[in-house]
Amino acid sequence: MSEIGTSLAPETLMMRHGYNPWWSEGAVKPPLFLTSTFLFKTAEDGEEFFQVALGKKESNKTQGLIYSRLNNPELEILEERLKLWEDAEKASVFASGMAAITTTLLALCKPGDAVAYTVPVYGGTAHFLKDMLPQFNVRALPVAAGEDAPGAIARLLASPEGAGVKVVFVETPSNPSLESTGISEMREIIDRSGSKALLVVDNTMLGPVFQQPIRHGAHLSVYSATKFIGGHSDLIAGAVMGSAALISEINVYRSFLGTMCSPFVCWQIMRSLETLKIRMESQARCALEVARYLEGHPGVQKVLYPGSVKPGSRQAAIQKTQLSGFGSVMSFEVRGGKKKAFEVLNRVKVAHLAVSLGGTETLIEHPKTMTHSEMDDALMSQCGITDGLIRLSVGLENPADLIADLAQALA
Ligand SMILES: Cc1ncc(COP(=O)(O)O)c(C=O)c1O
Repeated sequence: MSEIGTSLAPETLMMRHGYNPWWSEGAVKPPLFLTSTFLFKTAEDGEEFFQVALGKKESNKTQGLIYSRLNNPELEILEERLKLWEDAEKASVFASGMAAITTTLLALCKPGDAVAYTVPVYGGTAHFLKDMLPQFNVRALPVAAGEDAPGAIARLLASPEGAGVKVVFVETPSNPSLESTGISEMREIIDRSGSKALLVVDNTMLGPVFQQPIRHGAHLSVYSATKFIGGHSDLIAGAVMGSAALISEINVYRSFLGTMCSPFVCWQIMRSLETLKIRMESQARCALEVARYLEGHPGVQKVLYPGSVKPGSRQAAIQKTQLSGFGSVMSFEVRGGKKKAFEVLNRVKVAHLAVSLGGTETLIEHPKTMTHSEMDDALMSQCGITDGLIRLSVGLENPADLIADLAQALA
């Protein structure tokens, strides 16, 4: 713990919380500990550290370092810092967003259980839910994302099919339709139904700066830290935040599955966290200008962006309860279908034709044939993933340069 406490703003605490420079010769930044194993001072220490790690003994001391798959200085400092963004009791960091999601679901679900989830959801998550969890006798039950999702979950939980739902998994806003699902409303529905289901929210698209699901009743908030948290498109990582009890349960699985984040990537993320707020705020300002430009372009049929919803709409009402900013990911549909969409993708010069999102550079892609190509056609059209839909993750470039680039590509 830092001697300045945790009452200051997260962006202030990213520069010192969880690390004491006098542990490491006064080094202002935490050094990188590239070691797989740690020396015990005594055999008695080794015995106690294992008992605590295996949950056989409570300890009010910090867990002693044993072996880097279980814990290591980088993981511990990063987790201390990360949890502050959602005011969570505990955070856990993983080798990828998928490692965070799969380890969490494997820890929470037992054979016979079910996971209800909103669609569309990230393709990798959908694949794990639909095609892999059934191998463990865990059913996956989809419901449409958006304002009607809580009602659909209420009906599901009241039906025989909904018996055994252990997790309600919500991605909000959804990718690539950017539709918000009410987090607090979903939690109320679960509680009112008498179900013991846990609400897990994928907060990759807006979090942790513009949306904090735990404050709105989510039991766990999961992330692809590859996106905004890492922020530079140079690492793959994931995170989960929540109560100490749930994170400890998940960490047992992380230790045995070996899905933890490596020390070097933790170190990279600590560096990224120092600029997280200014990056996300600046990217969101730039994205709003780009969205306004696209909204007025005659070649653009519609813009799907939290900042483009109609005032007074149900989406706007959800946003009011849980968003403090619109973020920097949007989708837009061009007139002229796939041919025109591909023309735009092939003509951009400032934006990068590549998948992923949340990096400092603007990324542009075609969900129907790229990130969401695994979805079946009916579901795709139900979710508005059309031939002409393009997804754009706005970076830190000058908005005028991005708008000029899109203008020449759309011309
Ligand atoms: C919303 C969302 N969740 C999870 C993931 C998976 O994260 P990762 O690629 O870090 O495994 C992604 C990846 O694109 C994503 O967009």
